[in-house]
Amino acid sequence: MKRSLIVKGNFIFTKDSEKFEIFKDSYLVVKDGRVDGIHPQIPGEYNGCEVLDYGDRIVIPGFVDLHLHAAQYLQCGIGMTKTLLDWLNDYTFDLERQFQDREFAKAVYSEFAAKLAAHGTLRASVFASSSTEGTEELFDALKAQGVGAYVGKVNMDRNAPDFILEDTAASIDGTRYLIEKYGDDPLVKPIITPRFAPTSTDDLLKSLGDLAVSKDLPVQSHLNENRDEIKWVQSLFPKSRHYSDVYDQHNLFGQTPTIMAHAIYSSEEEVALAQKNKVFLCHCPDSNINVRSGIMPVRRYLEMGMNLGLGSDIAGGHRIGMNDAIVRAIQLSKLRSMEFEGEKPLTVSEAFYLGTKGGGRFFGKTGSFEPGYWFDALVIEESPFVRERYSLEDRLEKFLYTGDDRHISARFVQGNKL
Ligand code: GUN
Ligand code: FE
Repeated sequence: MKRSLIVKGNFIFTKDSEKFEIFKDSYLVVKDGRVDGIHPQIPGEYNGCEVLDYGDRIVIPGFVDLHLHAAQYLQCGIGMTKTLLDWLNDYTFDLERQFQDREFAKAVYSEFAAKLAAHGTLRASVFASSSTEGTEELFDALKAQGVGAYVGKVNMDRNAPDFILEDTAASIDGTRYLIEKYGDDPLVKPIITPRFAPTSTDDLLKSLGDLAVSKDLPVQSHLNENRDEIKWVQSLFPKSRHYSDVYDQHNLFGQTPTIMAHAIYSSEEEVALAQKNKVFLCHCPDSNINVRSGIMPVRRYLEMGMNLGLGSDIAGGHRIGMNDAIVRAIQLSKLRSMEFEGEKPLTVSEAFYLGTKGGGRFFGKTGSFEPGYWFDALVIEESPFVRERYSLEDRLEKFLYTGDDRHISARFVQGNKL
């Protein structure tokens, strides 16, 4: 017997980025955790089935955060006038060190996971710290929340303070241990996570690429975020054609599913390689503003049909809610459009797509309510005056711009209410 559930409400999602699909006063049938269909009436065969009636509320796909750092959660909003490399040295590394303390890691990651779910992020690709024990606590905290995630122990074996570096073998051993322990979990899974090229030796990158390919595991890292970082990569890897080539040479650039955060300054050749290798590029607008990195040419990437998603990048970004990332992506695209004629700003549906189905594609079928997609969903609360006055599309836009965790009253992951 298939397990069925019917949800009544106003359903809004993006099948394609160009426009919203809107089903007013409709009944969405969930079968075994997946969307079966959306109907104006309850189909006859489902009479007597459990109905969750959300009345005139809006129901949207859960948000997908393709890039954030759980071990930086406490640092949100701190050090925001630094640029990337100073910010890492002056604030971030010392905070990440503290996740070697298991009790501290457990307490902070529990709060992090609760906030993530509260703000409607139901799938996320997360960096922990370089501590293996600390990273176990992040797996457990996310599992306890019931959200879907990829979790990476951060691999780094050079060019950072000794207190968060490991030697290459220890870094790989810790990663292998976590893969053994969590590799079969249905919802919270390991991802190979070299921090970025500069904090990795060739040996580390080679071992990580071998591991990714041999165990068929996804990969995440940072790419072309900051001009000083790029110069540093060129000097550290003089034999590489460019930054992307450093990863590509080590089987860390799409040989298995890969997320690269930022890609602000990728050359034509690098973008072509990312596209050929189906690498997901992750736009992190708040972070790019805060640590003054630059502006991703997101319109260009969208037009090329690149794999694209959105990230909060906390704590380069300061807001954990992906509605804020969606809004900031729109705002930043407007600034870019004033500088670069022909680069039209993002529309609301395009930015919403990036924060739901665009990034969701990395997790399989999530981020949409098309048949076959996991029912990962959020129920939205609004003022009754707003509900009366505005169209469903306007109401969603208002939630994106002005809402937060207080405006989300129910969350579903794979059809299960959290
Ligand atoms: N590049 C390497 N490490 C980091 C990090 O922690 N945050 C950001 N935004 N960029 C990085
Ligand atoms: Fe980051």
